[in-house]
Amino acid sequence: MKKLVIANWKSHKTHKEVGRWIDAFEEKLDHSLLKDAVRIGIAPSDIYMAKVADELNQSVALVAQDVSPFPLGKYTGATAASQLVSMGVKYAIVGHSERRHYFGEDHIQVANKVAQCIDAGITPIVCVDDEYVAKQAVAIDSDMHSKCIVAYEALSAIGTGENISATHVAEVTDEIKDVFGDVPVLYGGSVTSSNVTEYAKISDGWLIGTASLTLENFWALLTAVSNL
Ligand code: PGA
Repeated sequence: MKKLVIANWKSHKTHKEVGRWIDAFEEKLDHSLLKDAVRIGIAPSDIYMAKVADELNQSVALVAQDVSPFPLGKYTGATAASQLVSMGVKYAIVGHSERRHYFGEDHIQVANKVAQCIDAGITPIVCVDDEYVAKQAVAIDSDMHSKCIVAYEALSAIGTGENISATHVAEVTDEIKDVFGDVPVLYGGSVTSSNVTEYAKISDGWLIGTASLTLENFWALLTAVSNL
């Protein structure tokens, strides 16, 4: 399987900045074989989804940073999984540690988001920290486990420049596979072009926050991964 590398822009970037990043990215991608070596995903804020969908190369996957735990309906401010699908979204990040920490999301809400994604045909990327891998797995219907990608996302490593050691990522990856089954497992938390190769034999891909914000850093990381 190709490594899956997702740029998670979080609440960064204005409309203009998104345009500049995508234009420069498309130009580089056109002249590169990189898209054949790596599965790339971009997770912009929902408000830029249409723009990114229109301008992005077809080989690059559109990713949502979050999804509503409810279906279409009277849920002001929420974006339903079927709305995301209608924009061409293929994957949705659910239960990111920032959502749990700042927005109070719990295992049940995350499980409901997973169910909405699967129902709509989106692959959920379920984020877990090592303390609650098992609890999160129990909250999700076991029939759905095999349809998930799971990401080990330690809050302590996110945006801090303190990535988790490869040995510990390997332990948590095994633990995730014990409870979710043989699903793809990603790692996220201060991954850069300089440390990504440490996880080459352990992880099926990475969630990239800070190092995806400038194209220069993200491209360096993609290049490092494509040479694995
Ligand atoms: P970071 O964020 O790369 O800035 O640590 C990763 C993430 O939150 O997915």
